[in-house]
Amino acid sequence: MIVIDDFIKDQKLLDDLRADSAFFENKGYMWWDGWWNSPADTVKKRLIQYIWGENSPYPRPHAAGFEYWVGVFSEGGERDELPFHFDKDEHWYKQAGEIVSPVIGTVFYPWENDIDGGYLEIYSQGRSAEPERLEPKHNRLVIFPAGHHAHRVTKVTRGIRRAIAINLWDKEPSGLAAGDLFPEKPKLTRSLDALTHIGQIIRGDE
Ligand SMILES: [Fe+2]
Repeated sequence: MIVIDDFIKDQKLLDDLRADSAFFENKGYMWWDGWWNSPADTVKKRLIQYIWGENSPYPRPHAAGFEYWVGVFSEGGERDELPFHFDKDEHWYKQAGEIVSPVIGTVFYPWENDIDGGYLEIYSQGRSAEPERLEPKHNRLVIFPAGHHAHRVTKVTRGIRRAIAINLWDKEPSGLAAGDLFPEKPKLTRSLDALTHIGQIIRGDE
């Protein structure tokens, strides 16, 4: 496991992360095939490229792309904790009962978390030893084998805990073809899609 505090030094990126009010709104699992295939046209993709393309403390393994999602936990909210688990190709597990793991996992905290509880606990020495316990500190980067070390988020008893998780895959997870993961689009593209849709309705294409 690697933990780096004050990871992002690029103030513009830090400001853009904080200014993106919609950053934690989309709760789905997103997929990006990487900057070598398509542009970093969202703040989340810029964050991924900053971590894995330019400043990686870990030798970047061969990757087909990145699966990423945001986690929001709060006392009295939809979720206040996340039980112990391993990250895996969830769709494939449901289909075939077989565990396929990501190459490596990343967790990052783009906003301040003014909370009680909400620790990331990682059993890096197996379940019989004490887990490592990490505070979800702003601008802290955590890299760990999320498919092989059981981990959880402890109960949040005050405030809202926000994080983004990013997993590297050496082949596309099966959920992508099945529609469980979706390619994240920039805001402008989303607006253009909506306009095209309206145009089709006006023209009677559908
Ligand atoms: Fe996880």
